[in-house]
Amino acid sequence: MPIALDISFAALTASTESVTALLTGTDAALGTIGTALDKASKGALTAASRAADFKGKSKAAIELLAPAGLDLQRLILIGAGSTDDEGGQDWVALGGVAHAQIMARKTKVASLVCDVPGATAAGAMAADLALGALLRSYSFKKYLTKAGDTNGNGAGDGHLEKLVVLTADPAGARQAFIHAKALAEGIALARDLVNEPANVLDPVEFAARARKLTKVGIEVDILDVEAMEGLKMGALLGVGQGSAKPSRLVVMQWHGAKSKKAKPLCFVGKGVTFDTGGISIKPAAGMEDMKGDMGGAACVTGLMHALAARKAPVNAVGLIGLVENMPSATAQRPGDIVTSMSGQTIEVLNTDAEGRLVLADVLWYAQDRFKPKLIVDLATLTGAIMVALGKEYAGMFSNDDKLAAELSAAGEATGDKVWRMPLAKAYDKLIDSKNADMKNIGGRFGGAITAAQFLQRFIHKGTPWAHLDVAGVAMDSNKTDISQGWASGWGVRLLDRLVSDHERNDK
Ligand code: BES
Ligand code: MN
Ligand code: ZN
Repeated sequence: MPIALDISFAALTASTESVTALLTGTDAALGTIGTALDKASKGALTAASRAADFKGKSKAAIELLAPAGLDLQRLILIGAGSTDDEGGQDWVALGGVAHAQIMARKTKVASLVCDVPGATAAGAMAADLALGALLRSYSFKKYLTKAGDTNGNGAGDGHLEKLVVLTADPAGARQAFIHAKALAEGIALARDLVNEPANVLDPVEFAARARKLTKVGIEVDILDVEAMEGLKMGALLGVGQGSAKPSRLVVMQWHGAKSKKAKPLCFVGKGVTFDTGGISIKPAAGMEDMKGDMGGAACVTGLMHALAARKAPVNAVGLIGLVENMPSATAQRPGDIVTSMSGQTIEVLNTDAEGRLVLADVLWYAQDRFKPKLIVDLATLTGAIMVALGKEYAGMFSNDDKLAAELSAAGEATGDKVWRMPLAKAYDKLIDSKNADMKNIGGRFGGAITAAQFLQRFIHKGTPWAHLDVAGVAMDSNKTDISQGWASGWGVRLLDRLVSDHERNDK
């Protein structure tokens, strides 16, 4: 759903909405506005802080109702913690907390005062807080037809419509917010795609939604089954052949670099719009979650939106392989041997190991057509990565130490964290097959690794490549201050940061 929260920035003055959230520093220290409000209310803020033992700890909050002497219904004090914490505060997370605090008061309009004593870079801070509020404001209610159900989750439930962010540097905040807003839109798009049920979002509909990125300046090509047959994409097409919904490959190009010829950064996403497992069918319990098996493709689409919306000075290409994995009379069988676009043959021993088959052809096509500077693929590829890393870190596999280090750093900076896993010859051997060049499953152990080894067989020597197994983080992951729903939008901020870090070289 489009973001329904209108954010604006204004100078630090006491002219605030009647519901106001105010950030405080260490020991509930007040900034200029807080001090003025405290004075006008004859010390109500300091008295309330003392009474509630509020010390301004990060994310702690207290509320003053109709404080005497102030023209406010509610004043919410929110702790920003210590400004000398190593690495400083996570203002994005704090923006999410502020949104939640305001939402709990069921108000439509509010202001957020950001004059934390000791905090620097006021403009960037305000934009980050706004980003957090936008991300926290996301909800997916398009299929709720009744207002106010028992979960407080009804269609017509009120939401915060307008947030005025008061900052010492409104001009700087507005400038920084261009990037933040582009990110928020990209993340909301990725979440929408993942939340959408598979009867609505099939490969054709997903491609149609990707096509809409032309509006922000992305060049979108959609390859249909015939085009992919022409390219001999036997691995991808084999997965889709059991479905009544035709497969698609979507190519999204952003030309932002000064030179049209600058080699692009390529992002590849697994887009299995529903994964039943195929003939190697999955158990019924929890199968509904497999509507999210296109989380990698959703992230790539959201990223491309964000890059275009902020006019990133870089060339980037997003490629998503869209298929539905169904059991049917036309489905591929265990034991089938398919020929991938690369020419390598694959024995399909388990039709539920389908994501790697899709990626094999999309990765090959990406390198063949674009000769990219680097490739990052994202895929909800294995249950095994969740056994290894839980739902906190995505698994990262890479043939390039520099790219791996860049992704690790971007992960720590954005909160979309990645943990590097090994690639090695001994694992690669596990997917050798007697009947074909390789088989699509390894043994019982190291399932996320053998899946990555499979992908590496489709990466040219010399192409820096990283594979992110996002099965644990793309959906149904841990709730955070900025993500409360099922789909997380994981990876958009991570890859946007990676791209930013590369922009300097590409101008
Ligand atoms: N889409 C699944 C992986 C998955 C599982 C993602 C749970 C998110 C949540 C993938 O296609 C799959 O089925 N993988 C198999 C591979 C196995 C057959 C080698 C798995 O992990 O069990
Ligand atoms: Mn599967
Ligand atoms: Zn899958």
